[in-house]
Amino acid sequence: MKKRIGINIDHVATIRNARGENYPDPLRAALAAQSFGADSITIHLREDRRHIRDNDLVRIKRYLKIPINLEMAPNKEMLNIALKTKPNFVCIVPEKRKEITTEGGLNLNKNRKYLKNIIKKIKKKRIRVSLFIEPQISAVENSFLLGADCIELHTGSFCNAVNNKKKGLAKSTFEKLKKCAQYGKNLGLDVHAGHGLTFKSTAIISKIKNISEFNIGHFIVSESIFLGMKNTIRKFKKIIN
Ligand code: PXP
Repeated sequence: MKKRIGINIDHVATIRNARGENYPDPLRAALAAQSFGADSITIHLREDRRHIRDNDLVRIKRYLKIPINLEMAPNKEMLNIALKTKPNFVCIVPEKRKEITTEGGLNLNKNRKYLKNIIKKIKKKRIRVSLFIEPQISAVENSFLLGADCIELHTGSFCNAVNNKKKGLAKSTFEKLKKCAQYGKNLGLDVHAGHGLTFKSTAIISKIKNISEFNIGHFIVSESIFLGMKNTIRKFKKIIN
């Protein structure tokens, strides 16, 4: 199975917004990533619009040929935007206003009925729904029971362990990810992974055969400063396959 890479371009918008200018343009970044072999583009429309804005989503949807994966918090406003713009995929993520980045996976024990209803409404528009979860078997099982098509396993703890050279922790979190990927696959879920991935952590985690897609953002935007986006994406594509 060929593994896919989704490029998260949120931080292109972060740079734009830092100066209050209209460049760098996230649409340009999305089109460039597409031309360099990205399999999909991920954007996270946050409640505070701190990076991607509504008009970015509309423009990217209009011009991009590869699938768009919209990350969104499970609330009414975002649900309406998703139903209206119809991205190819929606990844439901938890969102806290003050966090720097998405800190953990969804709590699927809370508001189950509410989440199930949101998932149903999105799927009705033929949008594939993914849930961003911690690598825990119970969360994989709950995702299946709630009707998700895919899960995205949060790789934050694993990546931190790799970055900080904590070998034991890296090994145990890797095993958790592997078990969850296997469990999800057996349930018929498509298994994705993301958060904090670098060349090094991606090279390790790519050995898990049941993970079909990696969504990577911050490191790609960062590394593009030094290597250029084309070389960065090509290097990741080599690593994952
Ligand atoms: N996947 C999900 C669900 C995320 O929320 C994020 C961060 O927005 C990513 C992947 C990408 O993480 P990073 O920017 O650390 O590569």
